[in-house]
Amino acid sequence: MLESVKQSIKTNTRKLYIESYGCAMNFSDSEIIASIMGEHGFETAQDAAEADVIFLNTCAIRDNAEQRIRERLKHLRGNKKRNKHLIIGVLGCMAERLKEKLLEEEQLVDVVAGPDSYRDLPALVAEVDDGGRAMNVLLSREETYGDVNPVRLNSNGVNAFISIMRGCDNMCSFCVVPFTRGRERSRDPESIVKEAQNLQYQGYKEIILLGQNVDSYLWFGGGPKKEFKRLSVEEQDRSIDFADLLKLTALSVPGMRIRYSTSHPRDISEKVVLMMAQYKNICNYIHLPVQSGNSRVLEAMNRNYTREYYMDKLRMIRRILPDCGISCDIIAGFSTETETEHQDTLSLMEWSQFEFCYMYKYSERPGTPAAKKLPDTIQESVKGRRLQEIIDLQNQISRNKHSAMIGKTAIVLIESKSKKSDADWMGRNEQNNVTVFPCGDYKKGDFVEVLIEKSTTTTLIGKAIGYASL
Ligand code: 5AD
Ligand code: SF4
Repeated sequence: MLESVKQSIKTNTRKLYIESYGCAMNFSDSEIIASIMGEHGFETAQDAAEADVIFLNTCAIRDNAEQRIRERLKHLRGNKKRNKHLIIGVLGCMAERLKEKLLEEEQLVDVVAGPDSYRDLPALVAEVDDGGRAMNVLLSREETYGDVNPVRLNSNGVNAFISIMRGCDNMCSFCVVPFTRGRERSRDPESIVKEAQNLQYQGYKEIILLGQNVDSYLWFGGGPKKEFKRLSVEEQDRSIDFADLLKLTALSVPGMRIRYSTSHPRDISEKVVLMMAQYKNICNYIHLPVQSGNSRVLEAMNRNYTREYYMDKLRMIRRILPDCGISCDIIAGFSTETETEHQDTLSLMEWSQFEFCYMYKYSERPGTPAAKKLPDTIQESVKGRRLQEIIDLQNQISRNKHSAMIGKTAIVLIESKSKKSDADWMGRNEQNNVTVFPCGDYKKGDFVEVLIEKSTTTTLIGKAIGYASL
């Protein structure tokens, strides 16, 4: 069946436009989708207006993410009117969450496909060609797309994502991801290293290893996830954990920067941090979401750690890597959170001194454990005020941290022209701070030593004083 689809489509190249929403994992998935569709004769287009097929790769993590997609679908009605053969697909987390409801509610949607069914997309499009609407929302315990060579979309040619695992087994009570992305599974390390080497060969300078919870990466020869203690002796011997994977990657692509995301405070190990200290090409930067600074709220969130445990992890990281940049995710106004508990989040932020934070108002997601057991009790206005206090505090911390950099130098990898001026480069230092400086003779992909002269809440500003190595 697939082979005949391939034949019929190959003779007639069509244009595919993919729009990605949400997290880095979604952007990485879109590159896998482009590759799979490319194999079946679909060329990626830069403009929705010239596309025969439009895929929206969606996010379901908060209600406003889904509302954005609904708005976008309204806009696409015009495209469909102009081209009645246009095929519109909704893929990813929102597709997985809503399933057939999405086909019922959004009449212009032709294809609905969940995160584990992307190999089936060419066949789903063929079904629509034959006059139907098509859906595949099956989740898998094994699919990692390990053998798919991603087509880099909207790439700056400098940094690229590599997905190292899929799904999440954590069941944080607020989170819809375990339901939309399914069970956790790790990708074959050999295919990860090959992808990194391939990127280096193409001139890329930085890779970002992606997983919902990278610290629980474990490879023992394939198949669904098992805990280390449940592996046979033989499997244990050949198993590779996240620290081993970091080492393997660092050694395979010397001269390339390596970053990763996301870590879990419960699982991040000293072994991982020691590996970061040992290999210079692994950036001293960790994204370590805390979500709340209060232990009771953390328990209600099912995060499996306390405020003190989180602080101990930060102490461990800073003992081994004193200059490590740490960023965070925080949720304001989780169900039942009191004013005092909110104050605990502020005091933890003060103590932690994060480089930056992603900060959100709690959004109840249907079907999650919190929605079932802890109905959202906090008024919108209270959530909004708490979020603003969190944002104000983080801005102040970021401003202070940035201004403390004035007079110091940073090693910056040039990524692109700055948003504000074509005369300036934009890049990041090891700690992931955005840095801007006049272009001079430097070029994209160069590692440059930059003297920091000024700063804002979000940016370091300086001048280049010479080439640098990692
Ligand atoms: N409401 C608000 N924020 C959420 N996140 C996950 N689920 C929700 C939700 N229901 C946030 C968490 C997570 C980040 C990716 O999104 O902070 O770390
Ligand atoms: Fe969601 Fe928690 Fe998994 Fe992150 S670790 S994806 S917040 S369940």
